[in-house]
Amino acid sequence: MNIDALFDTFPVLSTERLLLRQPRLRDADDVFAYASSAEVSRWTTWPPHSSPAVSADVIQIFNATYQSLAGVVWLIELKATQRVVGSIGLTLKPRDRYAELGYALGRAHWGYGYMPEAIKAVLELAFAQVGLVRVQARCLPANQASARVLEKTGFVYEGLLRQSMVIKGQPQDLRMYAILRQDWQQTS
Ligand SMILES: CC(C)(COP(=O)(O)OP(=O)(O)OC[C@H]1O[C@@H](n2cnc3c(N)ncnc32)[C@H](O)[C@@H]1OP(=O)(O)O)[C@@H](O)C(=O)NCCC(=O)NCCS
Repeated sequence: MNIDALFDTFPVLSTERLLLRQPRLRDADDVFAYASSAEVSRWTTWPPHSSPAVSADVIQIFNATYQSLAGVVWLIELKATQRVVGSIGLTLKPRDRYAELGYALGRAHWGYGYMPEAIKAVLELAFAQVGLVRVQARCLPANQASARVLEKTGFVYEGLLRQSMVIKGQPQDLRMYAILRQDWQQTS
């Protein structure tokens, strides 16, 4: 496994339409624009951001996560507009050579295939560069859009984790999806 591929320098990822890059404090207004939406945060573990100052704090947490080698969070910038429209991140479990994927996109940008495009780039990094054996993702059972994105990018549904996370004060069931490096090698 080559963790240096993540932490030597921040791994900027470029796709046809997207730039996945390091969060900057001056992105706080763009982050607030998507993260303040109740339609987005309905599906996330975090509550809607109540002000751009909260978004700035979250950006600092993203960067502290990276500095501590615990994971990588990218902001997703649309190349066409150079505006940040969402985020995607990996939380690393290096001992067991896997990572957990999380993501969110602004409501106005749903349905254009942006998140599958971002996920494919992150999986390429995770499997081909870092050498992880597994990337997993969990979502609420009612989150059909997230389940579709995971299925479209090669993740396999593994089962329901009953009441496995307290989200906004309520224990919630979560659907577990994962893709293994061997699955990824066969499809890419
Ligand atoms: C899940 C999410 C990232 C999907 O990203 P995306 O770039 O829109 O993904 P896609 O364009 O591939 O669309 C995926 C599915 O979303 C649904 N979808 C598409 N456009 C939609 C819209 N305007 N409104 C509601 N759902 C829509 C469709 O079911 C689509 O599946 P399909 O391709 O079979 O038609 C995005 O909906 C989102 O950010 N949701 C809120 C946060 C969230 O759920 N995060 C993940 C927590 S586990």
